[in-house]
Amino acid sequence: MPSFYALVIGASSTIAQAAIQQFEADKDCLGVFAISRSLPNSETATKTQWLESDYSEDSIQQICKSLASYSGKISKVLICNGILHNDSMMPERKLEEIRASQLEAIFHTNTIIPMLWLSQLLPILQGEQVTQVALFSARIGSISDNKTGGWYSYRASKAALNMLIQTSSVEYARRAKNVKLIAFHPGTTDTPLSKPFQRSVPKDKLFTADFVATQLLSIMENVTMDNKAAYLDWNNQPIEW
Ligand SMILES: NC(=O)c1ccc[n+]([C@@H]2O[C@H](COP(=O)([O-])OP(=O)(O)OC[C@H]3O[C@@H](n4cnc5c(N)ncnc54)[C@H](OP(=O)(O)O)[C@@H]3O)[C@@H](O)[C@H]2O)c1
Repeated sequence: MPSFYALVIGASSTIAQAAIQQFEADKDCLGVFAISRSLPNSETATKTQWLESDYSEDSIQQICKSLASYSGKISKVLICNGILHNDSMMPERKLEEIRASQLEAIFHTNTIIPMLWLSQLLPILQGEQVTQVALFSARIGSISDNKTGGWYSYRASKAALNMLIQTSSVEYARRAKNVKLIAFHPGTTDTPLSKPFQRSVPKDKLFTADFVATQLLSIMENVTMDNKAAYLDWNNQPIEW
């Protein structure tokens, strides 16, 4: 593999952390840019440069400007941001639980922030180098696979993200032909996001972040570069949109 730089957005994510460790150990990886709302307390990684962002349009623009000299060199991008619950909200089980504030907060993190990055990253990703951008979606965002209902905000935020990825892929195909956009479903992974829902998950279906990161980096390495967005699970199986 030719040498490359990686960009990991939402780098505090447990899965992102595992991916960063794997980039650190990869001799072809020259460096990692890790973007997060907060910087780690201590930095042990040597190749990784942390950049703080509040994910406002201004902040994303500034960071992309500062990465301009790496245009054509960053060829692995992970956009990991996503929330399902926090201290004041849990996934909705019925219509009476719908709140504008929850829909807005979840759409902002899961849909709008990844899309702002996809928009601002275009000039950095244009060029000759074969590049993959993995955006963390979820199987629950599949419109055709919705049999159980519920989890309105999260489900819809990921479905909307999928549509934005599909739509962006049409334009990327014209303006950055070397880029493959992947809507990625990690499977249920042992992270703070899935913590409250792990009890019903069989042990062999609850993945470690390390396993999922290994799967994802291998999928990115081997994916067909066809100018179309792909919606893939952790086992490299396509999901119906
Ligand atoms: N774990 C699972 O079972 C599972 C299943 C399906 C899909 N996913 C998806 O996988 C992705 C990674 O999740 P994870 O399991 O690794 O979860 P995690 O460890 O809880 O990470 C949370 C992620 O969301 C970002 N984030 C949290 N609150 C935010 C806010 N208010 N504004 C902007 N960003 C915010 C964090 O970015 P900072 O670095 O800026 O803090 C971090 O990237 C998510 O998109 C999730 O939906 C996870």
